[in-house]
Amino acid sequence: MPILAAMFDLTKRAVVLTGATGNIGPAVIRAYLAQGAHVAIAVRDPAKGAALKAELGGGGRLMEAVADPADRQGMERFVEQVLRVWGRLDIVANLVGGYAASAAADGDLAAYRASWDQKIATAVTATAACLRPMRARGYGRIVSVASTAALKGEKGAAGYAMANAALVRWTESLAEESKREAFQAMRRVE
Ligand SMILES: NC(=O)c1ccc[n+]([C@@H]2O[C@H](COP(=O)([O-])OP(=O)(O)OC[C@H]3O[C@@H](n4cnc5c(N)ncnc54)[C@H](OP(=O)(O)O)[C@@H]3O)[C@@H](O)[C@H]2O)c1
Repeated sequence: MPILAAMFDLTKRAVVLTGATGNIGPAVIRAYLAQGAHVAIAVRDPAKGAALKAELGGGGRLMEAVADPADRQGMERFVEQVLRVWGRLDIVANLVGGYAASAAADGDLAAYRASWDQKIATAVTATAACLRPMRARGYGRIVSVASTAALKGEKGAAGYAMANAALVRWTESLAEESKREAFQAMRRVE
């Protein structure tokens, strides 16, 4: 098998994905399915989830269930369901987001907090729920989708830019922590 194809061979991987019902979600799900992955989507609206499942198919490799990515208990239940059905969870893909205007000069803390809750509360909570089984197996991949506003502030989108930047830093921090954990897990096996 060519090296690149092997790198993206996800036939043995199960993905938990949030933000499935947005603009980007369906394309990302299609890409995961095309690489052989199993994909479980946590949706807030059952009608949207059912419509997406009907559109994408996926056979037994696409599962949808109602769970608010910002609700820890709901996500714990969702993860349990994934583990019950597929027996594994390897990747969590955090796609929740959505552009919202808010000027930096307005000091509109409520608007900034709304962006924070939408982007950070969902990614942190969904990921935290997935980490337990990942840690237990010593394997996990965290994918967080952010905007280029994370790298450079945008006129009229202060809260959006702040939340995206925070998501990047949080994901990097988690990587630093879990890299060491994975190393320890490997050392234990050796
Ligand atoms: N589209 C772009 O051009 C673009 C460019 C750069 C970066 N991005 C980033 O890519 C990600 C996806 O973008 P998108 O265009 O697909 O966004 P979108 O079309 O606005 O979709 C947003 C998704 O997030 C969910 N969501 C929104 N607020 C939520 C909340 N408070 N709690 C739980 N779920 C919530 C929505 O679920 P419901 O259907 O239930 O509302 C939907 O699935 C975002 O993080 C965005 O910042 C997008």
